Amino acid sequence: MSEFGRTNDESYLGLDFDTLESYIANEQQMHAHSRGLFSNILRRVGLASKIISAKVQRAGLLDVLGTKGSVNVQGEEQMKLDDIANEVMKRTFFWMPSIAGIASEEEDDFVAFSKKEGHTGHRYTVVFDPLDGSSNIDANVSVGTIFAVYRCLDPSGECSLNDFLQPGTALVAAGYVIYGSSTMLVFTTGHGVHGFTLDPEIGEFVLSHENLKIPDRCKCFSVNAANHNKWDEGTKRFVDYVRQRESERYQETTSRYIGSLVADFHRNMLYGGIFLYPKDISSGKGKLRLLYECAPLALLAEQAGGAASSGDQRVLDIVPTELHQRIPYIVGNKRDVELYERMYREQ
Ligand code: AHG
Repeated sequence: MSEFGRTNDESYLGLDFDTLESYIANEQQMHAHSRGLFSNILRRVGLASKIISAKVQRAGLLDVLGTKGSVNVQGEEQMKLDDIANEVMKRTFFWMPSIAGIASEEEDDFVAFSKKEGHTGHRYTVVFDPLDGSSNIDANVSVGTIFAVYRCLDPSGECSLNDFLQPGTALVAAGYVIYGSSTMLVFTTGHGVHGFTLDPEIGEFVLSHENLKIPDRCKCFSVNAANHNKWDEGTKRFVDYVRQRESERYQETTSRYIGSLVADFHRNMLYGGIFLYPKDISSGKGKLRLLYECAPLALLAEQAGGAASSGDQRVLDIVPTELHQRIPYIVGNKRDVELYERMYREQ
């Protein structure tokens, strides 16, 4: 029983919790000069993720599983869930005067929005992967949305490719939504990482994980081991070293790999661990995309006390040369990422 004579289950009756909305409002009050532009972006991400979450949960019922172009029993062409999520995200930002344009995993090129009449304020670009891990969706595996926000280089000019090709150090915010056993929105604006869980009963994101820090232990070790013969010698050495479990740090380490980046990253943030998607030596490239997968999660990892590397470079320092650039990606606990880098360098 609480001091008001109610059980914990009834705590919502006292409204003694933070929602995404109240959290944003409090943050805005603390920054006297804030014009709320950025807060609105977060509000809109919250709304978009509720819509996508509802679609993901009803995927089977809505007959949206399957590939683009396939036809359902009514003879209607089905839209892939990736495309639905992409449309939701695009339209979310299209209506915001402060957003100059977006880049998405689902779009070949960036999409510039025309300037809204009378709008003279700061302008931002948003990059996103609307539904990461979607090849797993038919098997009911957790998927996610990753997003990040950059400030336009020239707020009064037209939106251009250079507004997107900025290093992660220039990010003003990043986050992800995981559609799992519950839906969670996790983000950073450069002041720690905060997680909000969607309570379906009240339709609100409730602050559930304030100031998340990656525990300093390597509980989870996440890599697609089937790719072993494609790895460079440094990666093989690191993976073998962890798997031998001889060093004290790795004695309790366990192997966990979902193949859905947001889900793997989220689990490792909570339990402590390292995720690797190294380069394939035959192509010399990684699989994951710098702009809307690696850099946003790298900012979250660093804000939570972790690190992210491409093997020879801090991910946040990499300046993209193209929208859909792929990089080798190692992210998680700082100590483990640093050990990987050392072995990578020494090979
Ligand atoms: P997709 O969105 O096509 O399902 O790709 C998933 C991505 C990422 O989420 C995950 O970490 C990685 O690909 C898994 O790749 P492998 O199947 O090669 O391990």
